Amino acid sequence: MSKIIVTAALPYSYSIPHLGNFVGSVLPADVYHKYLVMGGEDAIFICGSDQHGTPIEIRAMERHQKPEDFANEMHLKIKSVFERYDCTFTYYGKTHTDQNKEVVYEIFDALQKNGYIVETHSTQAYCNIDKRFLIDRFIEGTCPFCKSDHARGDQCDNCGRLLTPSEIINPKCKICSKSDISFKGTKNLAIKLDSLEPKISEFIELNSRNNWPKAAKNKSQSYIKEGLKPRDITRNMDWGFKVPLEKFHDSVFYVWFDAVIGYIGITKEWDGRKWKSYWTHKDTKLVQFMGKDNIEFHTLMWPGILIGANLGFVLPTTIKSAEYLTSNSEKFSKSRGIGLDLEKCLGILPSDYWRFALMYVYPETSDSEFSIDLLREIVNNIMNDKVGNLIQRVLKLSIANKGLVKKIRIQNEYREAHDKIVAKYKDDFSNFRLREALHSLVELATLGNTIISERKPWESTKKASSDGEVANELSDIFGTLLAISYEIGIMIWPFCPNASENILKHFNVSDTPSLKMLSMEVSVNLEDEPKQLFTKMTDSQIAGLQK
Ligand code: MF3
Ligand code: ZN
Repeated sequence: MSKIIVTAALPYSYSIPHLGNFVGSVLPADVYHKYLVMGGEDAIFICGSDQHGTPIEIRAMERHQKPEDFANEMHLKIKSVFERYDCTFTYYGKTHTDQNKEVVYEIFDALQKNGYIVETHSTQAYCNIDKRFLIDRFIEGTCPFCKSDHARGDQCDNCGRLLTPSEIINPKCKICSKSDISFKGTKNLAIKLDSLEPKISEFIELNSRNNWPKAAKNKSQSYIKEGLKPRDITRNMDWGFKVPLEKFHDSVFYVWFDAVIGYIGITKEWDGRKWKSYWTHKDTKLVQFMGKDNIEFHTLMWPGILIGANLGFVLPTTIKSAEYLTSNSEKFSKSRGIGLDLEKCLGILPSDYWRFALMYVYPETSDSEFSIDLLREIVNNIMNDKVGNLIQRVLKLSIANKGLVKKIRIQNEYREAHDKIVAKYKDDFSNFRLREALHSLVELATLGNTIISERKPWESTKKASSDGEVANELSDIFGTLLAISYEIGIMIWPFCPNASENILKHFNVSDTPSLKMLSMEVSVNLEDEPKQLFTKMTDSQIAGLQK
């Protein structure tokens, strides 16, 4: 059996992710991994906190904390939030560890030996008071384009333009707030993506056939067309992994360099022996989930690093990038205040609701608009009316007519329609159409609802006591409806593990669901009254979200 590594982009550990981040990577990765587990695959799910970079150093500084302490504190918070959303990582680690450092150094050494590292020279802002280079966010001032006062060295948050520190008007040092800034020459190390280009291009050509979304394919190809250039992998700052060369003792590796390598480092943190068997087995499939803003790092730089180092680590098989979740056509983002905080959301609705609703709108092929109204529609009309009510009705009807409940199986009349839906669900997952898989599951519920409303089993239960034929017919219908309910209990597991458990306990199943169970004989427990699976959203819940 080939091994599968599923990863989700490593969240920066300076703030709790919001809904937009969650639906872009960790949630679909978790859903997909759960599906693989159901299929009995040898699949691990790896994620962790991305702990380096200037934003973390700055926020730590603002709190008078050491970057490491701040990053570790946030790491624990983020990890616990994901766990409360029922994400079951094989391991949720972090990038600032000895294990990751070892892998980073090993890869860097190899890149150097293989001739893919080059020294670059540039001019950078330098604070004469703090005696340090002011890269990216360490310098602030007026944006030359929109004149906002809060432009940072790398970008203006107001107009979104990318900037370089020398363009900023009235630049100030973020640490001392003074303007005693000069521009000084400095050196860095870059990876020669230009020399690696033919191999990176070949990798994209080959692997993009494995279900890469259009955006991932197109973006990567267009960068290749423009031609790749050497890209800096070091920064003149303190927080990060020190570059292990005397000449660069005052530099650290660039956050993106040790973040992508972090996928390996975190696996090593998980298990000091097993990590290698996953990362170096030639048949391993590496499936990586991320938002579309992470594409180029994963399809150019990361494979470039792996190919250049040539240490036998597997390359990404499938890049599963998501489009954006939008609110009034704007991208969900913390800085624009339309994020919806993951912690707050959980205080209003349990995790299953968010998992379902978010996967129902998962921006798989294009940006997807999300709003409180839409959430209410999904919860009330789909989760409650279509899925929850079906299960409850079927169980209640069966309890009221115990004597008519015989074999739990789909009767011939509905077999074809049913088999088609179940096959589509599996096919959706195999082709990474996760939102579609959930929609297929809802279709199965719709089939159940149609059977109930067409056959109206309650109308003939009386007659069944004196008419054997009617009794048999009703047994077939109950058998079909119970079979559908049971299957929904299994198929919903990757999306809503709690609802799954609640359904399956009526079928005397307490193990982790598997796809094999779909074709197993099953019995139903008709003693326990079913509880409502989902409930409609209340006005106070809605008001809570609007706040
Ligand atoms: N921290 C980055 C973000 O949140 C993602 C890093 S993905 C990794 O956008 F591969 F580099 F880890
Ligand atoms: Zn300063």
